[in-house]
Amino acid sequence: MITAKRLDTVQEYYFSKKLREVAQLRAKGRLIINLGIGSPDLAPPPQVVEALNKALSSNGAHQYQPYKGIGELRQAIAGFYHKFYDLKLDPETEILPLMGSKEGIMHISMTFLNPGDEVLLPNPGYPTYSSVSKLLDAKERNYDLQAANSWLPDLEALAKEDLSKVKIMWVNYPHMPTGSLAPDSFFEKLSNFAETHKILVVNDNPYSFIQNDHPRSILQKDGLSDYVMELNSLSKSFNMAGWRVGMLAGSEKNINAVLKVKSNMDSGMFYPVQAGAVEALKLSGSWFEEQNKIYAERKKKVLELISELDCEVKDDQAGLFVWAKTPRGKSSADIVDELLYNKDIFIAPGFIFGSQGEGYVRFSLCANGEALDEALKRIKG
Ligand SMILES: Cc1ncc(COP(=O)(O)O)c(C=O)c1O
Repeated sequence: MITAKRLDTVQEYYFSKKLREVAQLRAKGRLIINLGIGSPDLAPPPQVVEALNKALSSNGAHQYQPYKGIGELRQAIAGFYHKFYDLKLDPETEILPLMGSKEGIMHISMTFLNPGDEVLLPNPGYPTYSSVSKLLDAKERNYDLQAANSWLPDLEALAKEDLSKVKIMWVNYPHMPTGSLAPDSFFEKLSNFAETHKILVVNDNPYSFIQNDHPRSILQKDGLSDYVMELNSLSKSFNMAGWRVGMLAGSEKNINAVLKVKSNMDSGMFYPVQAGAVEALKLSGSWFEEQNKIYAERKKKVLELISELDCEVKDDQAGLFVWAKTPRGKSSADIVDELLYNKDIFIAPGFIFGSQGEGYVRFSLCANGEALDEALKRIKG
């Protein structure tokens, strides 16, 4: 069969390919330590697992569920936004539960983009924004982020460009892969930028609780604009990446538009998964404090490891990773291959996040202390 032309625009996801290679090395007996991907290894809250188990035998648990999620889940999401971001969202109209935020990137893009529309993408940034835009025949327009500007976009410079064809701008603070945080004033500036240029700015916000005491939302307290939306996720915050639970928040008009796409693509989320997610969203801030203590311990070890590799690092990063600059003369691929083939340690090269990521590597904190001690021993040895 001849595949659709759109497949020529994208490649298999880097990790999908590279993890196959890691699996092959493991099959040959190599004990690879995976510091490549951000799939939390810690357990989800026990009450979440209990709720899922209990819900398995409730009435109707195995039937199709509402396209926009059960009411309890939407209410729990509203409660979560109120508790942690001090924002009031209407659970009936301003929230759409998703099966992970990754799928939301496709839904939003399908909802708002026509072929040829332009999309502003962070470079470096999460690769899915780019691949989804390509799959939909939209035109990618990277905006470069620089270490010197704390990996924030230069909105003044962007405003001077012709933005008339730009429909969506993806932002993601706390930022992956650099771990940079947006200052207080930034989201307000960005919302004004969105209104002025009539661009839909979407903040992808899955890392706001990880190694960050001040979770922020791009959504404004004085009412939701049609030019701003936010994705959020339980994957990293509650160690539930495999559950596939995320959410989209925005104006009623935008949520209804996205639902028009989504309701034609899936038939609701498995009830027990929703019941478990409700319990997670009810937790207090002490859950994040406990998780962050563990990540802080791990980060100390990762910083030691990075210093052994002569990489440069800023240690005020948020999120599940540590982003480090490779020593002069070494590319990201040099270090990644050196570590994989000589030390059996897998890390992510910065170039997979865009050209601005070249010269950097990303270490995940999703490995326990023992694995990190072993990685350090191998690097020193
Ligand atoms: C920036 C960013 N957005 C979205 C996602 C997807 O998360 P989810 O598991 O909610 O689909 C990831 C996952 O790695 C991510 O790093």
